[in-house]
Amino acid sequence: MNPVKSVRLALALLVLSFAAASWAAGGSVRLDRAQIDVGDPVSLQAGARSFVNYCLGCHGASLMRYNRLRDLGLSDSQIRDNLLFTSDKVGDLMAIGMTRQDGKAWFGVAPPDLSVIARSRGADWLYTYLRAFYRDASSPTGWNNLVFDRVAMPHVLWHLSGQAVLEVREFRSEGEARAAQLQSKAFSTIAEQGEGAHKRFLLRSMRVDVPGSLSPAKYDETVRDLVNYMVWMAEPAQQSRVKIGIAVILFLVVLLVLTWLLYRQYWKDIH
Ligand code: HEC
Repeated sequence: MNPVKSVRLALALLVLSFAAASWAAGGSVRLDRAQIDVGDPVSLQAGARSFVNYCLGCHGASLMRYNRLRDLGLSDSQIRDNLLFTSDKVGDLMAIGMTRQDGKAWFGVAPPDLSVIARSRGADWLYTYLRAFYRDASSPTGWNNLVFDRVAMPHVLWHLSGQAVLEVREFRSEGEARAAQLQSKAFSTIAEQGEGAHKRFLLRSMRVDVPGSLSPAKYDETVRDLVNYMVWMAEPAQQSRVKIGIAVILFLVVLLVLTWLLYRQYWKDIH
């Protein structure tokens, strides 16, 4: 085989193996759908409140200013009275007191800035992640997560959701595991283990054993609002951008009609 051909072959194999790896990694986790609606101010306000209360303690949202929350229909005094904990001015950024070094020292990993997390992770991932914490005595925080194995973040919403424990069921074939996954409505993942005749498919799901202050449906709603807010925060201008887009198109249509009329006027005597 000549060198060019073998390089091509190697490249092709590399691409194929990446494709196979991402298939294997993504194939077993089917994320729950987050029914978000960035046009719903009540949900966004509730989400902003949860975000400030439960997340800003560790994560910053340094691209976001508090006064941008006016776009959600909140007044400055509402923002000041209900949402300002970590700073004192409505015009301040959603920054936090914790430094990256502290975060790293406390959790092993510095909690990332969440300003645009919804763009990198996607709403469905966030929605599933925040509902996939379970108790795990072997982890430093006492928590683990079904979509983010060995995550360094503790389950900060546990008093709302309650505490869940992991349940693992073993199947001999992928088909059986999938069938069981389809039957249960709760979120679950499937992972392969072992080789050849010892190959097993593990279906991991969670069972709440200490209920929280919210019902499961209410908790899902709270998380949905929170994710809705994070999606809005990642691109606060999206609503106004749509409005501007419509206005621009209307303007162009009017302009088109006017130029056409003008064109007829100019040419009417020339024939
Ligand atoms: C007690 C501190 C703490 C609080 C409070 C906290 N987190 Fe975290 N969070 C972390 C740490 C630490 C990580 C890094 C985890 C890792 O990489 O293993 C993290 C990671 C994340 C990630 C994954 C980022 C990524 O893509 O790698 C998301 C999303 C997230 N947090 C969302 C939230 C939300 C939403 C809240 C509020 C409900 C919240 N966090 C509250 C500490 C915290």
